[in-house]
This record gives sequence, structure tokens and C-alpha cells, in this order.
Amino acid sequence: MMTREKFEKYPMISPEETEQALKKAVELTEVNVKEFYDCFPGANSENNFYSEFENTDWTEGFWTGELWLAYEKSQNDVLKDAALKQVDKFLYRIENHIKTDHHDMGFLYSPSCVAAYKLTGSEAGKKAAVLAADNLLGRFHEKGEFFQAWGEMGAPDNYRLIIDCLMNMPLLFWASEVTGDAKYREKAERHIKTAMKNIIRPDNSTYHTYFFDTETGMPKKGVTCQGNRDGSAWSRGQAWGIYGSAVAYSKLGNAEYIDIFRRVTDYFIEHLPDDLVPYWDFDFDTGSDEPRDSSAGVIAACGMLEMSKYLDDAEAEYYTNAAMRIMKAHVDLCAVQSTEQSNGLLLHGTYARKTPTNTCTNGGVDECNTWGDYFYLEALTRLTTDWKLYW
Ligand code: GLY
Repeated sequence: MMTREKFEKYPMISPEETEQALKKAVELTEVNVKEFYDCFPGANSENNFYSEFENTDWTEGFWTGELWLAYEKSQNDVLKDAALKQVDKFLYRIENHIKTDHHDMGFLYSPSCVAAYKLTGSEAGKKAAVLAADNLLGRFHEKGEFFQAWGEMGAPDNYRLIIDCLMNMPLLFWASEVTGDAKYREKAERHIKTAMKNIIRPDNSTYHTYFFDTETGMPKKGVTCQGNRDGSAWSRGQAWGIYGSAVAYSKLGNAEYIDIFRRVTDYFIEHLPDDLVPYWDFDFDTGSDEPRDSSAGVIAACGMLEMSKYLDDAEAEYYTNAAMRIMKAHVDLCAVQSTEQSNGLLLHGTYARKTPTNTCTNGGVDECNTWGDYFYLEALTRLTTDWKLYW
């Protein structure tokens, strides 16, 4: 258990260390883009090296987003040109409905295509992202008032939302802004309300997924897929809750979401191990041999930095400093230092760890993953500039 007193003794990353880590991450990305120029790495590395993968998973947007972040820092046109080539591939994917029967339109299209539109005015990016938002609307259940994550629409074994989906919602707010049509925002607001009402437990930990009754739309039960067990706190899910509540507040201004942010963030911090790199599930603590999930740490740091914009000075300082402590740990313990070591940016992530009591497929355990790399770069960018969100 991490007490606040113990947590506050952990050093914060300095401006020099942040700048150095950002510079290194951008340099590595400038090398890695040669391997993944108009193509994509898979979701996770094997022995710390990614191989090329088709644009068919939920994760390809992170690599393009990493290119945009690195481009913002370096102004290197190779990064921009590669990202724009990838945007064309995202447009092709959504126009041809290639593996788009799921809710992860935001993860795919915000850091890639919304970013392209915001940074360069790319019309292909805008068109692709609006089509992705339209596609996501098709997964909304009027009765249950939520977006169904996976599987055949309405099937009882998949009639559920998952906490990760909070980060798919910004795509819908953006789509309402650019089209002037409120339908996207309206559904996002209803989904967020349903998720927030059901997915946070009384002890401030979170369920990964939550089922609803197909007949009545009423809440049924929380169940895990990627956590250790139904009642545990999957650390990345908790991190999606942190960033998700911060963006929900930024879009909706509902004070309740600040309170939820505090609850889920304080739980996250209290369950960090001594070195501040989270275990993949908070069932495990200092001394355990279970793998870590560095991606949970950097996602949580981004959420804390986002919410700090909206808090009073004292609270903003607490959560900004918390993010800086977590980033110090991840830079010191997980950052890739050379292209011989890895073609990613952040070591020690865990995509999915199979246990007897969860339902995921084992993969990417103690490896880099593309969202870990992306949010690592986003957090460093947030610490060095007044960054305008792709979300
Ligand atoms: N959104 C899926 C995951 O975090 O693994």
C-alpha cells in the first residue's frame, strides 16, 4: 500500500530529465519510422521488437499518433509525410469497413486522423474520422444507453460496455464540433453517464467491463476480461478511468466527473508499488514476480496532467507532481535507450495476461506496446509544452 507520505517522497522528473527523455524518444521514432513508414507495427513487441502488422487491430492509431507527437517536437517532414500516408490507409479502412465492427474508433482515429486534421488541415483525416464517428454511433444501444464494445450487436454475451471506451468518446465530441451535428455528442454524454454510474466500485477501484440486461437495459454485473479476476482492479482499466474522467470533465464540465477522477486516481496511486511502475493488476504489490504494465503508468500520468488544467492550484499541483513522479519512474526504469535494445519507446508493458479467472488471450506480457509508447510520448510532450489534445 502506497501512503501519500511515502508517495510524496518519490522524486519528480526534472525539466532537464523530461527534455532529455523527450529528445531520446523523438530520435528513436525518427529511426523507427524507416521500418514503419507507410505501414504499422503490431500491438505489442516480441522480445522488445515490433514486426509489421496489417491495419486491422484496435491499435494502429497509436503509431501514427506517435509520429504526430514526434513531428510536433522535431518538425521533421519525414514524420509528417509518413503520418499522412498512414492517414490514407485509415480512410481506406473505414471506407471499406475493414475490421471496424467494434467500439475502438476513437483509439484508431483520434491520434491518427483527428491529429492530422488539427495539425495540417488534412481533409482525408477529417473525412476518415467523421466516418469513424458515424461507425461508432452504430454501436449505441438506446435501451441500455451505452456503446457495446465487442461482438455481434445485442448478443447477450457481449451486451456490455468496457471502461476503455471512455477514451473513444472524444472522437464523438470532435465530430459534433466539425459537423455541427449534436447527435455524436449526445450519445457520448449518455454513454459516459452510464459508464460512470456502473463501472466504479464503492472502494474506488473499477470494473473492466459491465453487462446490462438485453430486455430492460438495466445494469447486471461487472466482469473482467483482462484483469486478474472480476473483483480486482486491472491497472490499465483504472488508468483508462483516470484519463477518461479527465476528458469527460473537459468536454462536459460536470463536477461529478472531477470527483470520480479524484476517487479513481487516488486508488491508482495508493496501489502503486514502491518503484511506481504499476503491476498489470493491483492484486499484486511490491515484491511480486508478476509483470508490470508501464502503459498503465503513462496513461494515468496523461490523465492527471489533463485534469490538472481544471483543478484549483493546490490540487492541480498535487496531481501534476504525481504525474511527474510517475514519469520519473517510467523514464528511469522503462524507457528504451537505444535501437539495439528495442524498436519501441517503453519497455515492461503488459497487453493481456491470461489467468484461470479471466477471459483474455495471453499476449504481449513484459513487452512494449504501441499505446504505451504513444502515451509515454504524450506525457513527455504535455510536460514540456502547452499541448493541444488530439483527443
Ligand atoms: N483497450 C484495450 C486495452 O487496453 O487492452
